[in-house]
Amino acid sequence: MSLNWIDFSKKLSENARANGIPLSGAFELTSRCNFKCKMCYVACPARDKRALSRELSAGEWIELGKQARDAGLFNLILTGGEVFVRQDFPEIYEALCNMGLSLTIYSNASLITPEKARWLGKLPPSRLSVTVYGASPETYKRVTGSTDGFKKTMRALEHLKSENISLEIKTTVVEGNFRDYEGIYKIAHTYSDNLGIVNYISPRREGCGSDPTGNRLSPVDIVNYERYISEYGQKMRTVNKKLELKIGQDEMEEQAGLADTEDKAGEGSAFSCQAGKTAFWITWDGRMVPCGLLNEPAAVPLQVGFSNAWQKLREGCTLVPKCKACSKCDVRSECMACPGRLMSETGCFTRPAQYLCEAARYRAELKGQDIQAIARAGYY
Ligand SMILES: C[S@@+](CC[C@H](N)C(=O)[O-])C[C@H]1O[C@@H](n2cnc3c(N)ncnc32)[C@H](O)[C@@H]1O
Ligand code: SF4
Ligand code: SF4
Ligand code: SF4
Repeated sequence: MSLNWIDFSKKLSENARANGIPLSGAFELTSRCNFKCKMCYVACPARDKRALSRELSAGEWIELGKQARDAGLFNLILTGGEVFVRQDFPEIYEALCNMGLSLTIYSNASLITPEKARWLGKLPPSRLSVTVYGASPETYKRVTGSTDGFKKTMRALEHLKSENISLEIKTTVVEGNFRDYEGIYKIAHTYSDNLGIVNYISPRREGCGSDPTGNRLSPVDIVNYERYISEYGQKMRTVNKKLELKIGQDEMEEQAGLADTEDKAGEGSAFSCQAGKTAFWITWDGRMVPCGLLNEPAAVPLQVGFSNAWQKLREGCTLVPKCKACSKCDVRSECMACPGRLMSETGCFTRPAQYLCEAARYRAELKGQDIQAIARAGYY
């Protein structure tokens, strides 16, 4: 029997889940970045000496790639900080690519020159996911601190398009850019067939001087935004400007191809996603954690070996307690609560988070109301 790619990847995922195989992962190659986004949960300045001295070397990432591949890894996200600030990124990327891994790069794209785009075109990633922070130089300046960031990003998208790189456009919604949505939609439509909307901003995991919670939209405003963009997407479809909108879809879930399958093996687990079941995250300084929001449970693969670290992570994730209040909550289906978000918001896995609660209650309230009422109320 022959399988198409979607069925094949579902089979891979089911097999990984049944056998505890780390099919999907993320290597956070650096915490350094050329931008200074106000909401960033991780980034440090590009020349930060302390961060530079502690990040893993190219050889260490390549060694981790080999060990992870041997343990069953197939889908690997390369992220940061900004991966293109590393001078040795081509060395790491080429080695991982040649291991047969399916690579996705997360980037702000502003450092991708015509030469870098040509280089990528020769050994293309499965996907390059570019976060677009606004539709004008002013918005870029406001959100990322970069005066020429918009121009550089737009040029890079042109170069990448001419190299036929498979592009995904994402946008991360904050106070400084939510009014640019229609412009961002147009950019996404020009360069891709989908637009990912990061609609949840987490508090800082680490990083230098950013203020995610001070720059995110209020719970009411983010829910109104979600409604507005869904309506806008529908309207654009009628004029044939089709884009697949992915609002708040978790990256790891998407990578593992499990967003729409029932997680029988995970029953009883606090995680409804694949973190610690078939997916892991390795931070820029070499800690294996369930996902990019969490610092625990953790293991150090370069000390104990990848497979041992993976087993330790899996066990650690089974011990993460469920939030009892969330399990009983009447608006659970409208809420983004998960272990990563609860811990990041409250410092505890078992405490409901006010920001998430308010957003969930408002989503529940709004069901059935029309978008014109929101527009009339002056949100857009
Ligand atoms: C940390 S960045 C690294 C990759 C690259 N520098 C970029 O901006 O796309 C990965 C993604 O996380 C998003 N992000 C940054 N801070 C965030 C936060 N506090 N909560 C949620 N997502 C955040 C970014 O906008 C980006 O889409
Ligand atoms: S979100 Fe990305 S581009 Fe912005 S500072 Fe963080 S790592 Fe850099
Ligand atoms: S965070 Fe609040 S709204 Fe969300 S599931 Fe938990 S109790 Fe319910
Ligand atoms: S714990 Fe939450 S934030 Fe982390 S991967 Fe799972 S769903 Fe995403």
